[in-house]
Amino acid sequence: MYTKEQTKALQQSGIRFLEEAGKPLPSSSVESLRDVLRFHEYRYYVMNDPLLADAEYDRLYKMLEKAEAADSSIVTPDSPTQRVSKGLIKDFPKVQHLVPMLSLDNSYNAEDLIDFDRKARELSGAQEIAYCVEPKFDGASISLIYENDMLYRGATRGDGVVGDDITTNIRQIRSVPLSAKFSRYGIQQIEIRGEVLMNKNHFKAYNDALEEQGLPRLANPRNAAAGSLRIKDPKEVSRRNLEAFLYHVSDVTLLPGHRQPEQLLTHSGTLQMLWELGFRSPEKEKKVLKGIQAVVDYCLVFEKQRDDLSYEIDGMVIKVNQLEMQEQMGMTTHHPRWAIAYKFKARQATSRLKAVEFQVGRTGAVTPVAKIEPVTVGGVTVGSISVHNEDYIKDKDLLIGDTILIERSGDVIPQVVKSFPELRTGGEKMIAFPRNCPVCGYPLEKPEGEAVWRCNNSNNCEAQIVERIIHFTSKDAMDIRGFGEAIVKKFYALGYLKDIPGIYRLPFDKIRSLEGFGEKSITNLQAAIEASKQQPLHRLMYALGIRYIGETTAKVLANAVHHLLDFTSFSLEQLQELEDVGPKVAGSVYQFFHNDQNIQLLKELEAIGLQFKNLKKDLHAAGNLSGQTFLFTGTLVQLKRSEAEALVEQHGGKLLSGVSSKLNYLVAGEDAGSKLEKAKKIATIKVISEKEFLKMTGTDSLSS
Ligand code: IVH
Repeated sequence: MYTKEQTKALQQSGIRFLEEAGKPLPSSSVESLRDVLRFHEYRYYVMNDPLLADAEYDRLYKMLEKAEAADSSIVTPDSPTQRVSKGLIKDFPKVQHLVPMLSLDNSYNAEDLIDFDRKARELSGAQEIAYCVEPKFDGASISLIYENDMLYRGATRGDGVVGDDITTNIRQIRSVPLSAKFSRYGIQQIEIRGEVLMNKNHFKAYNDALEEQGLPRLANPRNAAAGSLRIKDPKEVSRRNLEAFLYHVSDVTLLPGHRQPEQLLTHSGTLQMLWELGFRSPEKEKKVLKGIQAVVDYCLVFEKQRDDLSYEIDGMVIKVNQLEMQEQMGMTTHHPRWAIAYKFKARQATSRLKAVEFQVGRTGAVTPVAKIEPVTVGGVTVGSISVHNEDYIKDKDLLIGDTILIERSGDVIPQVVKSFPELRTGGEKMIAFPRNCPVCGYPLEKPEGEAVWRCNNSNNCEAQIVERIIHFTSKDAMDIRGFGEAIVKKFYALGYLKDIPGIYRLPFDKIRSLEGFGEKSITNLQAAIEASKQQPLHRLMYALGIRYIGETTAKVLANAVHHLLDFTSFSLEQLQELEDVGPKVAGSVYQFFHNDQNIQLLKELEAIGLQFKNLKKDLHAAGNLSGQTFLFTGTLVQLKRSEAEALVEQHGGKLLSGVSSKLNYLVAGEDAGSKLEKAKKIATIKVISEKEFLKMTGTDSLSS
């Protein structure tokens, strides 16, 4: 989509815009700023390889918003600001697809595929057929129409002939371009089909949030995607982080005087065209293969990798690659004869519910966990499975002793699909929910309208303390490597660790004598603990495990203050003024920062040396090194080499290992030698002193 040169130019122009933030934006630059934003959306949402920090993107976006607000005549329908729409959608009008959306015939094994190939060769008269093989995305199908290079309409599949017009919601999906240069290919109007999905991480986070609010979890990402497309509040749709893969061109009208572009001769060509135009087509995942054996092999290889993908697929789709041959083969009333789906083995299994145990989470939520007869589902042995809450148990009609169907999908965590009441023998028992905390005995509470029973003895309930420490050290929080769940539990049981500050005061003399703790693992653990003190504020904010505060909200919150303890003086109203902070989140944060025990904990952590300041906030003026490359040489006076390098990375810059034309800055310390000489010969490298470097990062003002 973007050449190397374009990438570089757009990246640099973005950095220039960032440097000029604050100054009024001349209207002649507006379209160029839009191009920069589109480029970064593409890097993030289509390529999965962002080149800009989120906060930097936000700043550029706000610049554009401001310029457009000042002069509404310059707003274009495909401006990145035009995805978001205010107000609610009234209804989704019915619209007819240009070409009916057929579904695919299914196959389940090599024989089915060989059979399909035999028929395809008979129909086409070909000796050997070239197939394009690609993933079968497990989401909700959509069809999009682009006219004169603009997204004109987006619709659900509906009954295949008529679907719902969901254009406004489709515009919330950032991997769907609002405009695309189809005219380059001589195309005036095009209808394309694809699949909207919620990736596994977002699905899990979404489900966790539902559970946290006492609402039932969704069974799979497909339901999550389909449901999200029908929400009447586009802002909420935007928050769902949907993605779209486009994989089929169903109709094309050429511009007058244009001939069919060569990309439209093969299916793989259409995928490539879509990719070139900025769509997320399965360009990288697809493979064109001759003969059915190669197809079978590729399907089997891909099936093994399905768990490594960030999104859910339920099989592969095999399509005859030549479009002319497709035409010749035609279709039945239900599906094309030129394509078939190869369905992966279902990740379902039956088991028996033996018992239910109750676990207490870090926010005090009491979760029933079913112990089941161990079974293998999708290659993993499952012996226990969360049954979430009392309502869920009622809903699924579960009794101890029941035969149950379980499924692993989406968030990989197995779920109960249903029980089989018809197989009951009469010996089954009701699942009795405790009324006191199974760990500390405190009476459980369940607020009106919620589904979850909770232990509110948060600061004294052992289970909650341990779970909070585990959360604190976890990868997405303070990321203390090697300090996993098992170690936390072990140290807690031994009395070496009683609370979060205790992580920083572990009795290593005693730990040394424990089995399994060699000198090397101790050194590593110590280093990881020490390094966590430097984690940025938003991680600490998340690590504290405040109810309703996920990673995204933690970032918003951390960005709102200079120092973590500033929150002690925030009112509920002030909290609610922050983006995406509603009454529930605000209430939870307010409570946390008005609890003496919590304040005591925070003060202890600050004294230990954790990062309580929002470095980013102080660095908005200086300190943006994104897109810049650095190399250090000679002896630095104020900083250790490792600290200097860490600063570069913290501010979005990149480190290089040698002098080359790719280098932007050589930071020369005392007694710099050959690297300095070499750098001086390359005109584009700026040689700067340690002091100048500190100034660039804004660190000189911070340390004073
Ligand atoms: S091609 C005319 N390709 O699977 C053929 N479909 O069971 C158009 N699907 O309705 C469909 N990934 O919603 C095609 N790579 C892919 C797909 C795919 C998922 C869905 C699609 C279709 C269903 C068929």
